[in-house]
Amino acid sequence: MRIDIFPKSHIRGSITVPGDKSISHRAVMLGSIADGITYIDGFLMGADCLSTIACFRELGVSIDVNGNSVCVHGVGMHGLKPPVHPLDVGNSGTTIRLLSGILAAQHFSATLTGDASILSRPMMRVVEPLRQMGAEINSPDGGIHAPLTIHGKPLHGINYVMPVASAQVKSAILLAGLYADSPTTITEPYPSRDHTELMLKAMDVRILADELDFENPRSITIWPAQALHCAHINIPGDISSAAFIITAAMLCPESHITIQDVGINPTRTGILDAYKDMGADITISNRHLWNMEEVADISVATSRLHGITISGSIIPRLIDEIPILAVAASLAEGTTVIKDAQELRVKESDRIAAISHMLRNFGAEVDTTDDSIIIKGKSRLKGCHTDPKGDHRIAMAAAIAGLVADGNTSIEGAECVEVSFPGFFELLNSIGY
Ligand code: S3P
Repeated sequence: MRIDIFPKSHIRGSITVPGDKSISHRAVMLGSIADGITYIDGFLMGADCLSTIACFRELGVSIDVNGNSVCVHGVGMHGLKPPVHPLDVGNSGTTIRLLSGILAAQHFSATLTGDASILSRPMMRVVEPLRQMGAEINSPDGGIHAPLTIHGKPLHGINYVMPVASAQVKSAILLAGLYADSPTTITEPYPSRDHTELMLKAMDVRILADELDFENPRSITIWPAQALHCAHINIPGDISSAAFIITAAMLCPESHITIQDVGINPTRTGILDAYKDMGADITISNRHLWNMEEVADISVATSRLHGITISGSIIPRLIDEIPILAVAASLAEGTTVIKDAQELRVKESDRIAAISHMLRNFGAEVDTTDDSIIIKGKSRLKGCHTDPKGDHRIAMAAAIAGLVADGNTSIEGAECVEVSFPGFFELLNSIGY
């Protein structure tokens, strides 16, 4: 589906954005292996999270969906059933990696597969530590890529130092650690999103993490569990989705928007820190807690931005927001340098290449290296035709660039936004004047 974007003069309103993708996945996964019924409100009905629901149904879990509410009839840690068909994760890296950790410990075998993007993404980062725990995982190329066939085995605890800060890898090991015969300790080079740790804690699992300190490695220990206790989970708005709207309001003249009940877990708020450093007019209010997750309203007004350099520990805290941050940088005064971002090469697409391709279509000045993006800000972008090649965040970043560019923009294959932000274009229409 091709979508045309017309420039807007102002962005205004008070809105909410769909539920957090990472938390939605975890709520279904942990709810499925908990004892009793887990009620979830504010679930993200995006394609990725629907893939997680479909996989757990295939594993014998009964899951009712009603609007944005989900009711998971937990089968307990040992109640999953062997799937009849391969489990199809669609486009979802979180589903395939976290589910690998759970399947590694079951009493049956299962195969995990997905779309073309999933089949090209690196899986050894989860296969290797899970094998160390005793898992048997095979694939046509020895575990480098999916499809992965996982033969459940008794697992033992390990001490694992992660080479990259990845919440998906950390979570896969933590979930396998639930089933191990001794504690598991994981050390990540910098803190990555900690939703799994918080939700496990809320479900009464014994887990201990170092204090959050973004400049240092973080260790987390999980003890084998007997049972997870079901919960009522309220999912906040996804800051990764809010980032597109925040950026639209910063870049459009005479704009002001409030986004209510957004998750502001500090492992996810790198984008707010980076934007404030760039000069953004962002205010956080109405802070509260939902299931141990920090939530707040975010208000944003038109801002004069200047370029910054970001690198190191902030990168995992804004990894999914780099496509939209790059759009903001292309209209900031001066140069923005995004370093240490090699992980972008292995996201839903090679996002270093995709960002530079998309921004150059808009007439922006962009250079890249293996692990960095350098953007020289301009005062105007020009509308264009662009193809995000199925990457939802590139499509939405292009839409926001189109809102503030001169002339019209058309986006090919724009339906991919459904992966994480159903209703994105309708919401843009309702807040753009
Ligand atoms: C996610 C972790 C991140 C992020 C992805 C969601 C998660 O991936 O990019 O969109 O839910 O754990 P990595 O763990 O590979 O960095």
